[in-house]
Amino acid sequence: MSLTVLFSAPEAYWERYRETLPRAFAEAGLDVTLTRAAAPETVDFIVFAPKGPVSDFGPYSNCRAVLSLWAGVETIVGNATLTQPLCRMVDSGLEEGMVEWVTGHVLRHHLGIDRQILSQDGVWAPVVPPLARDRRVAILGLGALGRACAEALAALRFDVMGWSRTPRDVPGVACQHGAAGLRAVLEAAEIVVLLLPLTPETDTLINAERLDWLPDGAVLINPGRGALIDDDAVLAALDAGRLGHATLDVFRTEPLPPEHPFWAHPKVTVTPHIASETRPESAARVIAENIRRSVAGAPLLFLVDRDQGY
Ligand SMILES: NC(=O)c1ccc[n+]([C@@H]2O[C@H](COP(=O)([O-])OP(=O)(O)OC[C@H]3O[C@@H](n4cnc5c(N)ncnc54)[C@H](OP(=O)(O)O)[C@@H]3O)[C@@H](O)[C@H]2O)c1
Repeated sequence: MSLTVLFSAPEAYWERYRETLPRAFAEAGLDVTLTRAAAPETVDFIVFAPKGPVSDFGPYSNCRAVLSLWAGVETIVGNATLTQPLCRMVDSGLEEGMVEWVTGHVLRHHLGIDRQILSQDGVWAPVVPPLARDRRVAILGLGALGRACAEALAALRFDVMGWSRTPRDVPGVACQHGAAGLRAVLEAAEIVVLLLPLTPETDTLINAERLDWLPDGAVLINPGRGALIDDDAVLAALDAGRLGHATLDVFRTEPLPPEHPFWAHPKVTVTPHIASETRPESAARVIAENIRRSVAGAPLLFLVDRDQGY
């Protein structure tokens, strides 16, 4: 069977996928024409990233699924024209990158690396960091990325807690869920990592009240989505000395505007949404596998629950 796959993503993506996707389709035994323009009714699948040409899915009446190149689907999940199944990206390369970024930033704060870098002033003032086993780290979100980070930190012997919407079981991680679990996790966490999707339920989850639940001097690390946090509440908690540091990779407005106070704040580290990204080689295989499944009548992988928004 010959299939037409429409690639709807910003221009820069095309260079990275124009060869990797056809290679993955061939490896999966699929006969595919990958195109950036086609008559909508001829399209069998759409490979999608935000800010590409397609925003009205209505005319794609024969499209069997929209396959996102992004893990976060908040920009598309509420699109009223999208009646086709939507699959998000779960990619081993994306996961590896996130584990490296989160582990690096947790270790920075755990070991007090800044203290050494900033004080090369001839003063011999040893401060020995505690062992990881004595550092409580909370990961909010135990999905593909949060779980991988929790496991990596647990392997380094951090005292890891995790929080999710439904009960989860991660070996070596103290898991909590739901509204009641959140307070318990935040009250104990010295370092909090946000790996939640942005949904109506998680929007501004980290507000002034919940920041107050954290122990004094706790560190917030956000590689999830910018709108998970209340920017003003985070700044107020930093200024009051309640929060020790915020390392932020994602923002309500991206690029983060030059005048935003996060840039100049001495207790904020800004990284420009680089915590991790989908890696074309491994992601192309995920896309091909989902098309193979659809054609074979098998259930799609990583189907988004439209009611939950992730
Ligand atoms: N900065 C970057 O470079 C970058 C890169 C990729 C992704 N991201 C972000 O990372 C997010 C997570 O990705 P993922 O692949 O790990 O997502 P995922 O597999 O869908 O996992 C989401 C996790 O969040 C939990 N969750 C959702 N709503 C919740 C709620 N209301 N209360 C408590 N827990 C809730 C889920 O709970 P259940 O387990 O109970 O379902 C699940 O554990 C993405 O949505 C995206 O925003 C950022």
